[in-house]
Amino acid sequence: MNDATMTLVPTKRLRGRTRLPGDKSISHRAAMLAALARGRSTLTNFSTSADCASTLACLRALGAKVEREADSVVIEGVGGRFLPATAPLDCGNSGTTMRLLAGMLAGQPFSATLVGDASLSRRPMQRIIEPLEQMGASVASTQGHAPLTITGRSPLRPIAYQPPVPSAQVKSCVLLAGLQAEGRTCVRETVRTRDHTERLLRWFGLDVEQETDGVTRTASITGPALLSARDVVIPGDISSATFFLVAATLLAGSDLLIEAVGLNPTRTAVIRVLRSLGAEISIENARVECNEEVGDVRVCGVGRLSPREPQANLICGALTAELIDELPALAVLGTQVEGGLEIRDAAELRVKESDRIRATVDNLRAMGAEVEEREDGLRVAGPVELHAAQLDARGDHRIAMAFAVAALTANAPSELRGADAVAISFPEFFDLLAALSQER
Ligand code: S3P
Repeated sequence: MNDATMTLVPTKRLRGRTRLPGDKSISHRAAMLAALARGRSTLTNFSTSADCASTLACLRALGAKVEREADSVVIEGVGGRFLPATAPLDCGNSGTTMRLLAGMLAGQPFSATLVGDASLSRRPMQRIIEPLEQMGASVASTQGHAPLTITGRSPLRPIAYQPPVPSAQVKSCVLLAGLQAEGRTCVRETVRTRDHTERLLRWFGLDVEQETDGVTRTASITGPALLSARDVVIPGDISSATFFLVAATLLAGSDLLIEAVGLNPTRTAVIRVLRSLGAEISIENARVECNEEVGDVRVCGVGRLSPREPQANLICGALTAELIDELPALAVLGTQVEGGLEIRDAAELRVKESDRIRATVDNLRAMGAEVEEREDGLRVAGPVELHAAQLDARGDHRIAMAFAVAALTANAPSELRGADAVAISFPEFFDLLAALSQER
């Protein structure tokens, strides 16, 4: 990744209809399950992200046959047993690749090393090392950080686990390891996280029990289990759609239809929150495909926003966890909301691809916003006029896209350093934005 600087010219409004590349979370998981399964799976509308390309490269190195065809990926699975890789597996910038693959490798009878880029090597891995060691694998790390060398044990011991932080990656890591455990593996959570792993495991033929007593949700599987190949149609990525929903909302006169967006209820908090803050968003053509809710999302521009509900200006608790990837974009939107926006309980943002609290605060301040930084969040005042600035993506795709959106609403062109980071999740972002923009 280089540090290319991009000039971002303000836009009057966004108009048109589009479709987005497949959801990144679902693409990672579909590829991993297809690679472990017996048989050939075709994954349509597979994510074009560099992160998912890292997953595919690792799966190839572990013996799966992986071919890309237009917007699909065809995977011939290994039928339960990967082959030992001849070199370290490079997860690039992708936390999901490293944490989920670690779970799959824990039950394989060989050692494998997972490496990542500088950002991924700073991110916390103890949260997966702990449960995998409880299950009988051995994981060597550098004080809880990558590189990770996983020495598998076959079969693993099943465990009942409650992750100390709400994390779909940790939950998924344990469930995927559970495929190679002898008996019942359960993961409990008191804060709901995305459930794509559970849904896809079912799609690939496994019996996954999901129950809740109103406070705790438990997902359980019984291993050892062999998955059967299955074709998957992957919905558009709602986290990528978020940048367009925010941009169109902030640009009065916009009218945008994003087709076939994933609307899994564990991911749609962003639509609820945008509506409660005054955005005009509607869902058309709602349906279910491959165990995932999908629909077309229409957004009409508003400009400055008036919240519709008294508590709308505060994001905290479980809602923060559900919105974790959307918070930088929402902070940008907060600058145009009457009463501003406060985000609490978001300490996890400090250990994402960058320290997203710091990066959001610094870039917002550069644009003239009034922002208070907190250890676990931030508070932005609103509404304020954003002005052109020198922005910095800090090597982080979601920061790059959040501030590309902010720059569209500024009074003059801004410069964004490291804009090419968007390729980590959404390489087409700038082209699509240009295609939908109507110049001032
Ligand atoms: C993801 C889970 C979340 C999210 C990440 C993708 C996943 O991470 O931030 O972008 O695909 O499971 P955590 O599990 O660390 O919360």
